[in-house]
Amino acid sequence: MSQQTLKTYPVWDRGVRLFHWINVLTIIGLLAIGLALMFSKEFGVSGDGKILLKAVHIWVGYVFVINLFIRLVWAFFGNRFARWKAMLPFGKVYKVQFQAYLEGRKIGQNVNFLGHNPLGRWSILLMFLLMIGQGVTGLILASTDLYMPPFGSQIKTWVAQDEASMALIVPGDRETGIDPIAYQEMRDFRKPYRTLHTYFFYLLMLSIVIHITAVIVEEKRKRNGLTSAMITGEKVFSEKPFDAD
Ligand code: HEM
Repeated sequence: MSQQTLKTYPVWDRGVRLFHWINVLTIIGLLAIGLALMFSKEFGVSGDGKILLKAVHIWVGYVFVINLFIRLVWAFFGNRFARWKAMLPFGKVYKVQFQAYLEGRKIGQNVNFLGHNPLGRWSILLMFLLMIGQGVTGLILASTDLYMPPFGSQIKTWVAQDEASMALIVPGDRETGIDPIAYQEMRDFRKPYRTLHTYFFYLLMLSIVIHITAVIVEEKRKRNGLTSAMITGEKVFSEKPFDAD
């Protein structure tokens, strides 16, 4: 029996791992509450119940957005696998890695990477774009629906009859203190963001299914501890990875 020497490499720093698991948990929460909102009629949720569901969805949404924002900033400061250069599928180094990856596939040989493999980087980019889209549209919906931050008070000023009636405006009540024409304008402004939020949701779910499938296939093929690396930070290889120092 041939013996293999395995080497452990530190890859994902603490910032990336923390972001990843907070992201997973908040997305599961947002997905569950989002689906409850989508099917609120079928579930028989009352008007007040729907407002409560929306408020919880928004509070979890704030955690999701702040975590995402910190990760985007971390891409300037983290270790070399956490940085933009290692995440985005562009640049000279990326080109060299992609060519090596394709040549390896042509001759049926695995080319190992410590960071994301060249195809994986496209899926990372797609997921980040969709998450940013979901975050931005979500914040606009939070402001225009429940008058919550970041723009809730500006939206109240927009739809209020006058300054005094601003204090009377509450989520769910479309009459008290509200100027009907301004309110209709605000709803028309909001509509495309709601549509986008729903479509980004579908696309994000699809990209997450693809991401999880790719991780399972890669883990089974290479057996290099891809999943546990997001907990321990370390990957294991028997041959030197292409992007190792
Ligand atoms: C991964 C992130 C997210 C997912 C998967 C998600 C999912 C959903 C889904 C499925 C709905 C129901 C859409 C419909 O009824 O057609 C929804 C509605 C909503 N989401 Fe999100 N959402 C996310 C992030 C956010 C964030 C970050 C916020 C704000 C902080 C937010 C605020 C809202 C609001 C206010 C609604 C109610 C819209 C309405 O009923 O008009 N969402 N979301």
